[in-house]
Amino acid sequence: MRILVSGLLLTVTGPEAYGQPGFQPEIPRVWDEAALAEWATPVAGLNLRPKHISEKEYYAQRVENLRTYPVYAPGREPEGYWRRLQQTGPRALIERSELKTEEDWIRAGKRVFDEMDLLHLRTLDRKYINEVRNGSEAPSRMLPDGTLFGMRWVPTSEGVALSFSNCSFCHVKFLPDGTRVAGAPFQTVAPRPPETFRVWPLISRVQLSKGVLVGSPPFFMPGEPIGTQLYRAYGVPWRKDDIHKSLKSATQTDYEALDLAARAGGIPRWNGSPLFPAKVPDLIGIKDRKYIDHTATHLHRGVGDLMRYAALVTSAEAAEFGPHKMVGKATRRPGLRVPDEALFALALYLYSLQPPANPNVFDARAAAGQKLFERECARCHVPPLYTSNQLTLAEGFEMPKNRPASLDVLPLTVGTDPGLALRTRKGTGYYKVPSLKGVWYRERYLHDGSVASLEEMFHPERLKETHEPGGFRPVGVKTRAIPGHPFGLHLKAEERAQIVAFLRTL
Ligand code: HEC
Ligand code: HEC
Repeated sequence: MRILVSGLLLTVTGPEAYGQPGFQPEIPRVWDEAALAEWATPVAGLNLRPKHISEKEYYAQRVENLRTYPVYAPGREPEGYWRRLQQTGPRALIERSELKTEEDWIRAGKRVFDEMDLLHLRTLDRKYINEVRNGSEAPSRMLPDGTLFGMRWVPTSEGVALSFSNCSFCHVKFLPDGTRVAGAPFQTVAPRPPETFRVWPLISRVQLSKGVLVGSPPFFMPGEPIGTQLYRAYGVPWRKDDIHKSLKSATQTDYEALDLAARAGGIPRWNGSPLFPAKVPDLIGIKDRKYIDHTATHLHRGVGDLMRYAALVTSAEAAEFGPHKMVGKATRRPGLRVPDEALFALALYLYSLQPPANPNVFDARAAAGQKLFERECARCHVPPLYTSNQLTLAEGFEMPKNRPASLDVLPLTVGTDPGLALRTRKGTGYYKVPSLKGVWYRERYLHDGSVASLEEMFHPERLKETHEPGGFRPVGVKTRAIPGHPFGLHLKAEERAQIVAFLRTL
């Protein structure tokens, strides 16, 4: 009963391995030169893989293995909570010796998912701590139990630090009835009140006070103007007409406007773009997907790759693309990493995630929709995963002849906005065919989250310039067409409604 990770596949010998004592996983080495060599997809326009930091550099980083605890809104902190946190002292986030069964590992992974913080943003500065504990207003959205969304206390050897959630910041959704769904995409600004994102200004101030570059993963570069930071995070120097050049002269106010607009659809991640945001994907079902990110920036060959991706976005970004080095010599990385076993447990937990109970019944209407679906959609959204696990070409992208054999490409384009795939550092030229499982609880559709409902997605009006997108639209734009993915739009209104009814049952 071992998990043998060949670097390609996770093989468990016999289903009886689950839940039995003696689960002795062979944990893949997360930063492994051999596994990293062909992991990333070449970037469009450069036709080169982004560089990764070396194995040596990765493992030279200090290991951080600390539990974190919820932050309560002012006035909601239980009696004695703060004192108990002081007395608790640093505790291990993961302790390998205590994990005997696969369930133990998954439970440990849940803790990593819920508790892992943005290591580089921990602060012991009393100013922020007092503001959070005693401020007149909670700096973040309060959840029904009185805790604050996205914030964590971290007992360290130097005292209790304030920090912010990592994976669970963006990859947790609250259903309208308050149910917390781990792995489902967190919803962005509209139509919710912007209060949901109140925590961002505080994160921004902590970042600036520490000299951390905007965006994740972290690099330290104190005192740079915001425009310089934004260009480092999002600039694409190999493109002659790089639209991100304009970010160089951006002010804090410009940045906030861009960020707010992007968040109506997605979240601009490092190497992505606030001008071409990426929707937060659903992590439920990730186990069955062959590629990571909307643009398939990385392969997902097994548990090691999911661990690698978690490490990459937490502390291992190199930000080098062929001759283009986005961070200069004066820039420091925080030099922190979490233990490999924490990432392994996290990945097993992500693999174990299940969707919430679906309230939509499969009725006659949905059955009619299924027939139409089989005719119009199933060649790409192949059941039972509702994706063929293939890539499509972004509009205008010519596939390089020497593309890696690991990319399974349908030689066609669905014609959606090519910005993320062609004009950013996450741009590979491809968009993957997404799985449609769970579309009923997601609130944004297409890679940029420009569509806010399935009705909008399957309404022909969205192809017109007079359309008012329900999700992402650029700053200052009220109406514009959401192009592409014309499938189903030619059908009668009732037929489209049937397809939507069917989609809601998946
Ligand atoms: C600030 C928000 C944010 C945080 C924090 C965050 N993610 Fe994500 N994640 C995103 C967004 C946005 C994307 C889509 C990026 C893209 O496609 O370019 C994404 C993509 C992913 C994907 C690819 C899924 C797919 O189907 O393509 C995985 C896996 C993932 N994140 C896991 C994690 C893990 C694990 C952590 C914690 C270590 C984490 N994320 C932290 C926002 C976030
Ligand atoms: C030729 C392949 C293809 C066909 C046929 C196709 N799709 Fe898609 N579908 C895609 C691709 C590729 C995307 C992602 C595009 C993007 O994000 O830019 C997508 C996205 C979607 C999304 C948004 C999912 C999300 O999470 O963002 C839905 C919903 C959807 N398709 C449903 C359908 C339905 C219903 C049909 C038939 C009426 C259909 N598709 C036909 C390839 C296809």
